[in-house]
Amino acid sequence: MTSLTQKLRNLQVPSTTHRDAFTEWTAQKINWNVPEIEHEGFKNIEQGIADTFSRIVALGLELELPVGSFIRAAIEKIRDIPPTAIEGMIGNIEDEEKHFLSFQRIAAKYNVKTEDKKQAALFRREAIQNKLNPIVKTRDLETIVFLPLQGVLRFYGGQSLERLVADISHDEVRHTNYGWLLSTKFKYHRYTDFENFCTRITRWAVQPLQTSKKWEDICIEIRDTGESKILSQMLNYSVHKAPFEINNRTY
Ligand SMILES: [Fe+2]
Ligand SMILES: [Fe+2]
Repeated sequence: MTSLTQKLRNLQVPSTTHRDAFTEWTAQKINWNVPEIEHEGFKNIEQGIADTFSRIVALGLELELPVGSFIRAAIEKIRDIPPTAIEGMIGNIEDEEKHFLSFQRIAAKYNVKTEDKKQAALFRREAIQNKLNPIVKTRDLETIVFLPLQGVLRFYGGQSLERLVADISHDEVRHTNYGWLLSTKFKYHRYTDFENFCTRITRWAVQPLQTSKKWEDICIEIRDTGESKILSQMLNYSVHKAPFEINNRTY
């Protein structure tokens, strides 16, 4: 595997002392190391949970690195990204590699079906082939796919998995805020077709669950408002939401 961060060596991180919303989010970055995890069983037992875990882990293995490559493409191709944002975005690419490693560790403990790997690879290809702006693709995948599905892992997973995914989610909240801040700056709108594609991925992942409808509702809530009241009540954490300014989403 070619490291995404290695390819960033030649990118200059502009030096700046300017502080803005991007630096505020970058300051919230927590450095954490990817731990070994155990399969401690499922905290909340429900029919279909093993199948849903298989699909979510398959998606993590297929989509974490492409999202990092979309961020890299944005840095390389889009002019006028503020230096403060570039600095943070490079850190976000490093995070995606860490998330990929995390899903490799999870895959070593939880069964991932071959058919799910194949379907997740099809989603990856569709995401890569879509010509939409890479910031929008990153923003929507993180908001509509990753955040709700990490909620599933945290709600049903054992303790060590829950801790690991909490760290990943903390990163993703920061990442989604970058996406929405850049969208505001460059006036990137919502794109129904790509949102529908992302919603379709999440629906596929939760479809084996008896409570799939509830998880679909959570996905729609996060997609349309940046947070989920249903999920907040289920998880005792405050980091699992994409607290972009709702006012930004009136376009
Ligand atoms: Fe990620
Ligand atoms: Fe991310």
